[in-house]
Amino acid sequence: MEETEVKQKKYYITTPIYYPSGKLHIGHSYTTVAADTMARYKRLQGYDVMFLTGTDEHGQKIERIAQKEGVTPKEYVDKIVAGIQDLWQLMKITNDKFIRTTDEEHTKAVQKIFKKLYDKGDIYKSEYEGWYCTPCESFWTETQLKEGKCPDCGREVELTCEESYFFRLSKYQDRLMQYLEEHPDFIQPVSRKNEMINNFIKPGLEDLCVSRTSFKWGIPVSFDQKHVVYVWIDALSNYISALGYLSDNDEKFGRYWPADVHLVGKEIVRFHTIIWPAMLMALGLPLPKQVYGHGWLILEGGKMSKSKGNVVDPVILIEKYGLDAIRYFLLREVPFGSDGVFSNEALIQRINSDLANDLGNLVSRTIAMIQKYFGGELPETMEKNAQDEELIKLVTSMPAKVEQLLDQLQFSTALKEIWKAVSRTNKYIDETTPWILAKDVDQKPRLAQVLYNLSESIRIISILIQPFMPETPEKIWKQMGVPESSRSWSSTKEWGGMTKAPVQPGEVIFPRLDLDKELKELEKTHVPDKTKQLPEIRPQIGIDDFAKLDLRVAQVIACERVEKSEKLLKLQLDIGLETRQVVSGIAKFYTPEELVGKKVILIANLKPAKLMGIESQGMILAATSKDEDKLVLASVDADIPVGSQIS
Ligand code: MSP
Repeated sequence: MEETEVKQKKYYITTPIYYPSGKLHIGHSYTTVAADTMARYKRLQGYDVMFLTGTDEHGQKIERIAQKEGVTPKEYVDKIVAGIQDLWQLMKITNDKFIRTTDEEHTKAVQKIFKKLYDKGDIYKSEYEGWYCTPCESFWTETQLKEGKCPDCGREVELTCEESYFFRLSKYQDRLMQYLEEHPDFIQPVSRKNEMINNFIKPGLEDLCVSRTSFKWGIPVSFDQKHVVYVWIDALSNYISALGYLSDNDEKFGRYWPADVHLVGKEIVRFHTIIWPAMLMALGLPLPKQVYGHGWLILEGGKMSKSKGNVVDPVILIEKYGLDAIRYFLLREVPFGSDGVFSNEALIQRINSDLANDLGNLVSRTIAMIQKYFGGELPETMEKNAQDEELIKLVTSMPAKVEQLLDQLQFSTALKEIWKAVSRTNKYIDETTPWILAKDVDQKPRLAQVLYNLSESIRIISILIQPFMPETPEKIWKQMGVPESSRSWSSTKEWGGMTKAPVQPGEVIFPRLDLDKELKELEKTHVPDKTKQLPEIRPQIGIDDFAKLDLRVAQVIACERVEKSEKLLKLQLDIGLETRQVVSGIAKFYTPEELVGKKVILIANLKPAKLMGIESQGMILAATSKDEDKLVLASVDADIPVGSQIS
């Protein structure tokens, strides 16, 4: 395709917007580097690209972290967001816009979207009762929980019971199903599509709670200010609010929507392929062309995440090995749809083999030979002989293959394809033995041909690695003297772009690393595993706050399992003055028989709540170990009448 022909074609790509709940780790930069590679590639092809990233700043999780740190949520996010923006700058991420969900334009757009859906009858007011995973900001029904915990992250969920607005997700079930059937490429890789259909859509979509009243840090519902918009409704809207949807200037929305691809990690495919499409259908808007759910970068021992504590800091790696080595590793090591293990050893080995040995050596050997045999100036010659044909064929057929693979977001295979050319070119040196040719004056023209072919091959390779590696191509062009007129993407399809040019040997592009030494040094930079630490002490309270609690000694007089729940027990408690029914999530740790007769401590003045439709009139106290694998009920250490007050 000619560049001028595609000039007006647009390409809109997004990353998820990141929670500023702490410093970003290498796993986060995975999505952003992949999106940046696509954005760079499409720009090189001549597309008008819109590449969006940003931060997802509202929600209960952020509010709690800020409270713990003793600052306002806005003060807290401002600091973290600045760090995220610095990281993207360091990683040479070429986003065209950085959206913050605290931006005024975004806030207004979300309020308008919410109102529009309400006016249409797709949002209505009711009462929410169910479980909430604060770290994931997700609602779950009892049956969706896995052993009583969040099915996504395995952490504790909280019982939530409050007046809420609901989005009529159930209404869109059939349309969504039909859409997925008619658009087989909408969810990629295909395995994720099947997971969505079988695990979520087929069992039936329930209306979604889309507002909260129990905390404040969110976008207020414009017509009912005590509610804030559910953080996922707020966050997903960023993809259109960033383009000016429902604003006075929606020119970008007209130009770029629908998005070509939303790149997301596999755990949030559900939000992007069920809730988001249903919202768009309700708004009467076209759906994004594709949602691509990539795998996770895992450290031995589990998913790399802040909550698990086992993180790798990209800044340290970039400082040590350079940006391009890290970007190359991220994109090459793991096929994009699959999970992959991140290890320091794999990183160093890739740098040594692919970058230092294969590419780096190819460039430095070629430059050294041009210096040695031709006084530092590449001779121009278009002569070829039969020995060259295979190399030329392989190198010139590679760009089309790379494009095809990149269009399917197959970064790793695209790089493999380029590295086939790198290896083939290295092999060409061994086949043509320039050092032997150099011994014979009559072979000088042939030696010139060989060096020309080597340089030409390197030129094509260096152009094709541009989307992946923003720094290396320039270095190669400078050292090899690649003419500016032969650096365009389309010039890779023609053999012969090199001209007579002086080489300028410079620094080694990728120095070889000593594996043992590097591993020892990297070990020292490990971030401590926070799961091994105890939770921090909560903010101080006054004696008046404590005095509000009415704690009583209570005796279990009857107890049974709650049907269809692995977690819950229903207890009848004698508190001296009356009998109380309490539902408690302790079934994994106690059998009903063990509990009858036991004295426990009850919060007697806790507002009643319903758990799986059963009223719970208070809560009993228990101690939970930091790994949440042990739970012991609190009790009094000697006999005392039931109903006794604890203070
Ligand atoms: N705020 C939501 C996204 C809202 S989009 C409308 C969110 N944020 S996040 O900060 O938790 O994650 C952002 C992205 O980083 C997700 O796509 C997630 O999958 C990705 N990753 C986080 N850890 C990762 C790895 N260890 N490996 C690969 N990707 C990882 O979710």
